[in-house]
Amino acid sequence: MNQELFSAVDRYIDSLFVPHDSVLETVIRSSIAADMPQIHISPSQGKLLYLLAKLIGAKRILELGTLAGYSTIWLGRALPPDGNLITLEFSPKHAAVAARNIADAGLANNVRIITGPASASLDQLASSNEPPFDLVFIDADKPGYTEYLRKVLPLMRPGALLLADNVIREGQVLDPATNDASALGARAFNEALAAEPRVEAVIVQQIGIKGHDGMAIAVVRP
Ligand code: SAH
Ligand code: DHB
Ligand code: MG
Repeated sequence: MNQELFSAVDRYIDSLFVPHDSVLETVIRSSIAADMPQIHISPSQGKLLYLLAKLIGAKRILELGTLAGYSTIWLGRALPPDGNLITLEFSPKHAAVAARNIADAGLANNVRIITGPASASLDQLASSNEPPFDLVFIDADKPGYTEYLRKVLPLMRPGALLLADNVIREGQVLDPATNDASALGARAFNEALAAEPRVEAVIVQQIGIKGHDGMAIAVVRP
């Protein structure tokens, strides 16, 4: 592996396709100032999520794992003016930082943050007559991914797009001896996704400034 080269290529791609953006740069600064983990998606991953949301004309998006709102803002910018995004975040501190950043991005009217464990928030959404979602992005705690898959599928419309970050974990998902909770969670999710008859799916392996990981992509069958 040549991590330095992969990072340089990532920065090259960003320099061509991801212009400097003071709102997104402020998001990163705010999360450093608040001592939050620097585990947001990369700029080019953000652009990819944005393009995929545009491609399917997403009007209703559900996100699991808000952190400081970096991915939320990328996805929210792909929405039409009357579009909606609901994002689920366990930590009240993260949710408070994200709320400010989302307001700064001009998306306060489009985005709702639900604070609490995603599993309970998904139960709440299931019993609340929400219209179905066009796109779901799973990026919360990795051990929860399989449960989240089970709980989000009934909330999605036929043809909807499901994306899940961090499903390769530097290849640790291949290691039969791993005891890394995130790798075990990702592996269980990948197997559940592959066996899930309601979707067609694949994983895109990713390398760059975030190291070596992968994004699962699935389409809900009609
Ligand atoms: N999507 C963000 C990064 C999310 S990091 C971005 O790319 O910008 C993962 C987030 O999931 C963290 O903020 C963490 O607090 C949150 N999280 C962890 N466990 C959770 C749970 N059980 N329910 C909801 N959110 C959770
Ligand atoms: C971790 C979580 C993420 O969502 C990510 O993109 C990278 C790392 C983590 O928990 O280590
Ligand atoms: Mg992630």
